[in-house]
Amino acid sequence: MTAILQIQNVSKQFDGLAALSDVSFDVQQGELLALVGPNGAGKSTLFNAIAGVFAPTQGHILLDGQDITGLPSHELARRGLARTFQMVNLFPELTALENVMQGFHRHMPADLWGGLFQTAAYCQQQADWQARAIEVLRNLDLHTMADVPAQALPLGQAKLLTVAIAMATQPKLLLLDEPAAGLSHEESSRMMDLVASRVKTHCTVVLVEHNMRLVGRYCDRAVVLQFGQKIFDGLPNDLVHDARVVNAYLGTAGMGA
Ligand SMILES: Nc1ncnc2c1ncn2[C@@H]1O[C@H](COP(=O)(O)OP(=O)(O)OP(=O)(O)O)[C@@H](O)[C@H]1O
Ligand SMILES: [Mg+2]
Repeated sequence: MTAILQIQNVSKQFDGLAALSDVSFDVQQGELLALVGPNGAGKSTLFNAIAGVFAPTQGHILLDGQDITGLPSHELARRGLARTFQMVNLFPELTALENVMQGFHRHMPADLWGGLFQTAAYCQQQADWQARAIEVLRNLDLHTMADVPAQALPLGQAKLLTVAIAMATQPKLLLLDEPAAGLSHEESSRMMDLVASRVKTHCTVVLVEHNMRLVGRYCDRAVVLQFGQKIFDGLPNDLVHDARVVNAYLGTAGMGA
């Protein structure tokens, strides 16, 4: 197996707070890995460090064997990394299709001249992007919503749309921060089912999920953080039998239904 992502002794300090302390693990190509942990454990901080929002205070992060520590997010997007955020961040008045198209514009160099004069090359590129955007929407069963403004989408579909936008850049590695949070029991299962069946065929996925039932059912492996430290790395079905994991969750909100 080949490691697509290597987290090597990563620490992150915020003033006096150790949000991550010496965290190391690998993610293998094609895996669906769950990053688990109570509130404030450091999960989003780790995503932000991987995705170039800030550099870790210590340690290294490798993508496909290359050191990407501290590279800016646009360079990481070029190298095949995409992510979604814990909060849904869509353009509410734009349609689902336009939101995906905005994703292309954010990640590709702007052709201002072509856009101004509507050159043949520019129009062809727009047509190509639109075709790819529709394909990505179709892959997540969102194509019938292509012309619906994002603000009119139910939360389940709005969250799926954030996944579609990330997928449109054709990443090798996709980081999903709580894709199922806030969704109903049924919607969460559907989100995880689509990630495991459709998204995973295109790229390696690391996702944050609190619900152990969903992690056990859909994920290949789980890494658990608590107070910024890795306390578990193994099969999801072993999570509920691990004393440190059980203690970490009993001290907080429980392990999800
Ligand atoms: N930009 C920041 N500046 C200062 N402190 C931060 C910053 N980002 C995160 N923290 C702190 O780092 C710790 C880890 O936060 P993080 O958001 O990574 O947790 P999390 O595991 O994603 O939690 P949740 O499940 O609530 O999303 C918390 O104590 C948080 O307050
Ligand atoms: Mg978080």
